[in-house]
Amino acid sequence: MKLKELESILQDCEVFDEPKIQFEQYPTTPHLAARMLYTADTVYDDIEDKAIGDFGSGCGILSIAANILGAGYSIGFDIDPDAIKIAQENSETFEVDIDFVNTDLSVATLDRFKGKLDTIIMNPPFGTKNNKGVDMVLLKKAIEIAGTSVYSLHKTSTRDHIEKKAKEWGVTFEVVAELKFDVPMMYKFHKKKNVEIAVDFLRFEKQECT
Ligand SMILES: C[S@@+](CC[C@H](N)C(=O)[O-])C[C@H]1O[C@@H](n2cnc3c(N)ncnc32)[C@H](O)[C@@H]1O
Repeated sequence: MKLKELESILQDCEVFDEPKIQFEQYPTTPHLAARMLYTADTVYDDIEDKAIGDFGSGCGILSIAANILGAGYSIGFDIDPDAIKIAQENSETFEVDIDFVNTDLSVATLDRFKGKLDTIIMNPPFGTKNNKGVDMVLLKKAIEIAGTSVYSLHKTSTRDHIEKKAKEWGVTFEVVAELKFDVPMMYKFHKKKNVEIAVDFLRFEKQECT
């Protein structure tokens, strides 16, 4: 499948009816979701036939893109049952088979998934509202669970902090792309019609145990 075709298909993905700011619900656009998953598949071979976890799956666009690209198995995790409902409806529309789990990833024990998910993808809450640091909590958990790699979006301004943490956790990462995340006027406190946030698309690789 071509990148443009994937992006075009993802335009049909419904987004949050009533986005909840406490969970930092900002949907990934079809433009970005297509590029993230296409790169993970074609450059790193991390999607096709792989078991994929989607942390903070929201309306499911990242898992759906993974499935369209031939993921062997997909499962999404989200704290918000309303988001999961939309994700399930989207899965039906796209005729893809994805499991969804309603859980708070910041406290959930996910040991039963350890080693069962090859790749974890996520556009996590950035931890800028009341839940400071939640992005790093979810990232650490994803790195613990994933068998091979973790793909995640983070504000570029936090790159130094992530470098420090990655060293602490004994994991390497690369900046796959520097992107502009488009935030439309979604919440009451938004004053501008549109804001672009500089974000890094990161790939963390698990070290082979010797
Ligand atoms: C930035 S949105 C991304 C949604 C979706 N993955 C996408 O790319 O469009 C972050 C998602 O993380 C979920 N979330 C926030 N805090 C969470 C937590 N502690 N545990 C699980 N999910 C959480 C939100 O409900 C929301 O769906």
